Amino acid sequence: MSIRFDNKVVLVTGGAMGIGLATAKKFAELGAKVAILDRDAPAGQKAAQAVGSGGRAARFVECDVADEASVARGVKTIGEEFGGVDVLVSNAGIQRYGDVVGTSEELWNEVMDVNLKGCFHVAKAALPLMIARAGGAIVVVASVQTFTAGRRDPPAGTRRFCRLDVTHTPRKFSAPGGHLQAVDAGAGPTLILSVGACAGHPRRQKTSARRARDRRGQSSPR
Ligand SMILES: NC(=O)c1ccc[n+]([C@@H]2O[C@H](COP(=O)([O-])OP(=O)(O)OC[C@H]3O[C@@H](n4cnc5c(N)ncnc54)[C@H](O)[C@@H]3O)[C@@H](O)[C@H]2O)c1
Repeated sequence: MSIRFDNKVVLVTGGAMGIGLATAKKFAELGAKVAILDRDAPAGQKAAQAVGSGGRAARFVECDVADEASVARGVKTIGEEFGGVDVLVSNAGIQRYGDVVGTSEELWNEVMDVNLKGCFHVAKAALPLMIARAGGAIVVVASVQTFTAGRRDPPAGTRRFCRLDVTHTPRKFSAPGGHLQAVDAGAGPTLILSVGACAGHPRRQKTSARRARDRRGQSSPR
């Protein structure tokens, strides 16, 4: 069976690279108009060009999912340009490591603001556009850590449980025909793990980030 998304509008947060970029490309191949919302403007522009190659409809909007106003602006722009939103892939995320004793409140809040509150912000902004179309789908890219908290990353494990709750909460507000799904990603060789593993070690972080980019064949600032 071949599924098509012709003329559907798909919004992918964190679509500038990694899992989000792969998702954006796949939806574009299946006929969707794809909007990438990401805080990394250079990578986001490049990603939109790649996703839109061959005349496909793709658009990048710079947006920080941790900032409600930024998300509201970004989703509004896409709604106006593409005429609505049918599918939201809530994928933007960061990874930081540390045990309970060594985790600062600042680090905890950083993870929660992006990975948890970010899902709330984009769902809040996109749901009215889906309801206006009498249906839609929200997919939250969660993690294996939803079920198994990592030994070295209590914020990650905790936020994943919360993320499931955020996924389920808007269910009662969604339109008839609406669909909500959490996808638990396993460990993959994207930039997120390299950066997370080296947080607090700037030199290792830079080297590791460069290696991750090189692995993906992307040019890397040295
Ligand atoms: N790669 C893995 O092994 C793995 C495992 C489990 C879960 N995940 C989850 O999958 C999702 C994607 O991860 P990935 O591996 O592709 O990571 P990645 O680092 O390759 O990509 C993450 C993207 O999110 C964007 N982003 C980060 N913070 C943002 C913010 N505040 N606002 C907007 N955009 C922001 C980044 O700029 C980047 O483009 C994340 O939610 C991550 O937690 C990944």
